[in-house]
Amino acid sequence: METKTKKFKRDILNWYNNNKRDYSWRETNDPWKVLLLETISQQTQLDRADTYFKLFIEECPSPATMASSSLKKVLILWSGLGYNNRARRLYESSKILSEKGFDELYPNFEVLPGVGPYTNNAILSFAYGEKVITRDVNVDRVFSRYFGLNNVENFVHNNKQPLLNRVSSRDLNQAIMDFGSMVCKSKNPLCSTCVLEKNCEKNIVKIKKSKETFSGSNRELRGALLKLLLNENIASLETIQKNLKTDKVKLLKAVSTLEKDGLITIKKNNLVEINS
Ligand code: ADE
Repeated sequence: METKTKKFKRDILNWYNNNKRDYSWRETNDPWKVLLLETISQQTQLDRADTYFKLFIEECPSPATMASSSLKKVLILWSGLGYNNRARRLYESSKILSEKGFDELYPNFEVLPGVGPYTNNAILSFAYGEKVITRDVNVDRVFSRYFGLNNVENFVHNNKQPLLNRVSSRDLNQAIMDFGSMVCKSKNPLCSTCVLEKNCEKNIVKIKKSKETFSGSNRELRGALLKLLLNENIASLETIQKNLKTDKVKLLKAVSTLEKDGLITIKKNNLVEINS
């Protein structure tokens, strides 16, 4: 009898063949491209990530090209994506990679700043063809619903072999990710037209809303402040406060967290400068 895992792989790979969105990085085995795409796509939807990816690849086709440019240039390329300390970590990673290289770090890319288990597995799967599952929230949601699971980590750990034998891990992982964002969505999943529906356990759990809304948040203010400094290089706290129409307490919080992240420096006379 065909197992549930087999049916899952067959149906989701079929769906992927008919529905995958074509992107230039889909079939790449260049670990630098994988790192760039995965870092950018943590911030934004794939279509927008693709636009940024092309920009980055054009300006920084290798770790060495990014390492020899400046943090400021990387922040300018990153403009509009938010969470700017991710750009700083990417820049620091490029410095490490221009000396060591991915092959030397293999299989432990988590020594690179900003690289956690997900990105590590993405590099292993997409660049090195390793049989690993790239678990993120979308992937976990698909597994949890289809197989009726409370603990996806255990399931994936115990079913690596049946999940990944006879398939390309690149295809399976990207199929599950695409399926999770296009069909098995967190809100309003498209169950009535889903081709996996007949074998799905439909373990649909309501997801809690995130606490911080963007508007008026420290994250929003940090983004605005960094944008201002990318243009001006250096500005006084008074000028910044006037420009951004914010109160002093919020501004000082944004300034101190940006400084902690290594993106700016607080100088004498209340001056704030972007790091280069
Ligand atoms: N989200 C992040 N990386 C992805 C990938 N490689 N394919 C589909 N969705 C993704």
